[in-house]
Amino acid sequence: MKHLIVVAHPLIDSVTMKLSGAYAAELQALGHRHVTHDLYRMGFDPVMRPDELEPLKARRGVPDDVIQAQAAVADADTLTVIYPLWWASMPAILKGYVDRVFARGFAYEARAGVTKGLLTGKSCVLLTLSGSPLPLMRANGQWQAIDTLQDTHIFRSSGLELLEHLHFGEVEPPIRAEAIEADIGRVRACVRRHFSIATGQSSTTARSG
Ligand SMILES: Cc1cc2nc3c(=O)[nH]c(=O)nc-3n(C[C@H](O)[C@H](O)[C@H](O)COP(=O)(O)O)c2cc1C
Repeated sequence: MKHLIVVAHPLIDSVTMKLSGAYAAELQALGHRHVTHDLYRMGFDPVMRPDELEPLKARRGVPDDVIQAQAAVADADTLTVIYPLWWASMPAILKGYVDRVFARGFAYEARAGVTKGLLTGKSCVLLTLSGSPLPLMRANGQWQAIDTLQDTHIFRSSGLELLEHLHFGEVEPPIRAEAIEADIGRVRACVRRHFSIATGQSSTTARSG
């Protein structure tokens, strides 16, 4: 299977980036092909340009960075998105990625207010991190909001089959090495749960340009 990992964290030594690396390494160990789009290191521009939204230019005016990002999504069997929860949402660079790459005509069509996902036949895994413990987020309603607005409204609505949303709560300094090892163990188990059979092997990481 071909995997695209999209990860959003400014610090290369963050827990988020460590979990992303562990996820990719486990895919590699199982013989899967994977590409990582590390949005900060790529310098992904999250700002929508006016001509991307002009209906008549929409197909001709798609910028190269969006064309390349969409090609990577189109080429993948599975999309894995890894990000910390910031204000119970995603970092702005990832929101901009969704705005620009999950564009109308590519990720969805909408007619008479009804949205039809176009990324059908592909699966998706979400890995998120937060300072708050998950039980607290469930109790105060934040988790249900995240499920509605992120899991369902963005990813499921685009036609992706969401295999798992694995969350890591209480990730805040000081972070013990044993806690990171335990989290990496959960990441590896997640990969094995869903992708234990594979053929072929290769990987690329887009970090610049
Ligand atoms: C701008 C910003 C906003 C944040 N908002 C939240 C939040 O709404 N809820 C929460 O539990 N943690 C929040 N956090 C904490 C991060 O989710 C947490 O520090 C992160 O997941 C830890 O992983 P890291 O080491 O990869 O950064 C926020 C952190 C930052 C920097």
